[in-house]
Amino acid sequence: MTQQFPTALITGASGGIGQALATCFAEQGYQLVLVARNVKALNQVAGELTQQYRVPVKVLPQNLAQLGAANLIVQELEAAQITVDVLVNNAGFGDFGYFWQRETARSLAMIQVNVTALTHLTHLLLPEMIAQGGGKILNVASMAAFVPGPVMAVYYATKAYVLSFSEALANELQGTGVSLTVLCPGPTTSGFHAAAQIQPLPPSSQQRLMDVQTVAQAGVAGLLRGQVIVVPGLKNQVLALAIRVLPRPIVRSLVRRMQSARE
Ligand SMILES: NC(=O)c1ccc[n+]([C@@H]2O[C@H](COP(=O)([O-])OP(=O)(O)OC[C@H]3O[C@@H](n4cnc5c(N)ncnc54)[C@H](OP(=O)(O)O)[C@@H]3O)[C@@H](O)[C@H]2O)c1
Repeated sequence: MTQQFPTALITGASGGIGQALATCFAEQGYQLVLVARNVKALNQVAGELTQQYRVPVKVLPQNLAQLGAANLIVQELEAAQITVDVLVNNAGFGDFGYFWQRETARSLAMIQVNVTALTHLTHLLLPEMIAQGGGKILNVASMAAFVPGPVMAVYYATKAYVLSFSEALANELQGTGVSLTVLCPGPTTSGFHAAAQIQPLPPSSQQRLMDVQTVAQAGVAGLLRGQVIVVPGLKNQVLALAIRVLPRPIVRSLVRRMQSARE
């Protein structure tokens, strides 16, 4: 890797929204550091992006469910003398079902990946961005961040954390030259639903899902504009507004009904 290109580090870049985000940054002329567990998939994404966009790509395999993964990432960056200009905390997963019936280890790993690793990596990389007087952070939350989520209680709560943490930090960062954007996608076609063990939608309802390219482009455009919260798609934007005015018991019942339809 070279100092000739600005660098974007993207977690969860082995597929789905993360791969689409990596493509957007490669298109914008960034060199990339790609983090996820699946080395084969990461190498494939890296090979495709290097070939298509002629930007250097470093693959950094890491399991973010392990305590200290963020430290290991930063150690590798330091060893390779890579300075991160854009940090994209995208890695995450869900787990469908009643809280008490799901494996404790999986719920705790979800909090580790969706919340702890995101917070830790941000805390480790932010001081250098502030010292340089510039940098950007894109955190991937979800529409789930706006509501409590019966039948996926821990996942929705992790995303509420990402939204709240991101909004607060964006405010703290005013005047530092570092900006933070939080992306809140609605249902999107990716590996997410299979990984969370959610029943696939029937073919007649598949059009309700957004595609990863549209979601990623909205996120990157919002990041470059310095927008704090990005909700991709008009339908999702209207829904996010409606949620604010509806009484909470009604919101809980509506989410419960929507989730139960996927059992
Ligand atoms: N798809 C949706 O409907 C939707 C909606 C709103 C928000 N989101 C959010 O969007 C983000 C990306 O999800 P996606 O939809 O693109 O799903 P996806 O296709 O399942 O991608 C998830 C990514 O996270 C990585 N990841 C998962 N566990 C990891 C771990 N322990 N360590 C390192 N990396 C890990 C995966 O890589 P490996 O498996 O190779 O580790 C993969 O690259 C997530 O934060 C998700 O919550 C998704």
